[in-house]
Amino acid sequence: MSTENLAAVLEKVGTALKPLILSIPSPGENEILIRNHAIAANPADWKLRDFPSHLNKFPTVLGSDVCGIVSAIGSKVSKFKVGDRIAGFALVIANDNPEHGAWQTYTLLQENATIRIPDFVSYEDGATFPMAFATVAVAYFERLGIDRPLSSSQEVQQQRQSGILVWGASSSTGTAAVQLAKELGFKVFATASPKNHEYVKSLGASEVVDYRDPDAVSKLAQLAKEAGTPLRYGFDSISERNSSLLTADALLASGGEGSKLALTSPWPAGDEKPAGVEISMTIAALAFVHHVEMGSWMFNEYLSQAIEQKKIVPAPKVRVVDGGIAAAQEALEIVKAGVSATKIVVRVD
Ligand SMILES: NC(=O)c1ccc[n+]([C@@H]2O[C@H](COP(=O)([O-])OP(=O)(O)OC[C@H]3O[C@@H](n4cnc5c(N)ncnc54)[C@H](OP(=O)(O)O)[C@@H]3O)[C@@H](O)[C@H]2O)c1
Repeated sequence: MSTENLAAVLEKVGTALKPLILSIPSPGENEILIRNHAIAANPADWKLRDFPSHLNKFPTVLGSDVCGIVSAIGSKVSKFKVGDRIAGFALVIANDNPEHGAWQTYTLLQENATIRIPDFVSYEDGATFPMAFATVAVAYFERLGIDRPLSSSQEVQQQRQSGILVWGASSSTGTAAVQLAKELGFKVFATASPKNHEYVKSLGASEVVDYRDPDAVSKLAQLAKEAGTPLRYGFDSISERNSSLLTADALLASGGEGSKLALTSPWPAGDEKPAGVEISMTIAALAFVHHVEMGSWMFNEYLSQAIEQKKIVPAPKVRVVDGGIAAAQEALEIVKAGVSATKIVVRVD
């Protein structure tokens, strides 16, 4: 097992990632040094590689999703110890610090962005959790105003009688959105390609409609009406082409006036927003730099327990790209070309 810090380095925007040996960083007081055993690829990785963004510091190391073993901890870290199996949201995307990038052997994590991973979950599967669940946690708890679980107020009970629509439910963020919505007690309506309908149902969706069906909106509205659960909440995991408009239309057509919709990308520039739906956008990293109490609760407490109790399972299915960190460039190209209900992961031996 290598003790060097092999990294996939981005020297400047628009170039290919290059394998280089970097020094192993030391954790600050609230930080964890993770020895990665699996790294998952996200669309953000290739977008930040290919296009100018808020990241200014180059060379850098991109990537958000890591899973491995705690190698060292800072003086104020109290929830994890050396040797623990963890997954984490690497925050280079927020702090522009390459030591916090996923695509290397050793990554610095913030303690609040760290999830405990039980022995029965492989490192590869563990790497599927961080980005997807941070995205959905900010969407649900900060943008849509959904109450956290385990509350028993009347308001919460009322909320649970509403339907939620997850558009693009076989994606990484969509599978997380379906699972969390089900755990929160919602009746979950979803869209996906027909070949993924049974899979999305196995994660907790009651009804799944093909998003390519020209009647998808009216079918979803009809299903929600028949179930007596207007679609008051929506999560558009895709947020491209016309998916956001279709999601909003389905909420309105179901009778979900005053409904709320969270997107993963901005509303299409120049397109008019429909009246009657409150529309906002999630930003995953904010769970750990802005909504820090929520983010810490979500990762350190809720997810760590829900994964242990098998209430939340790894999703979507993992496809391992051989070659380790040197294959980062290839992994990002696969994601860029488009995947279906698949998380692209590399192993780090
Ligand atoms: N704002 C944030 O903080 C944040 C965080 C994470 C991700 N994102 C963004 O969210 C988007 C999704 O990321 P991801 O990692 O979840 O994607 P992903 O897993 O790579 O998405 C692949 C899935 O997209 C589905 N899909 C493709 N086009 C669709 C459409 N028009 N309608 C419905 N489903 C469609 C496919 O479903 P089928 O195979 O069933 O057809 C496939 O399973 C990306 O643009 C990403 O950059 C934003």
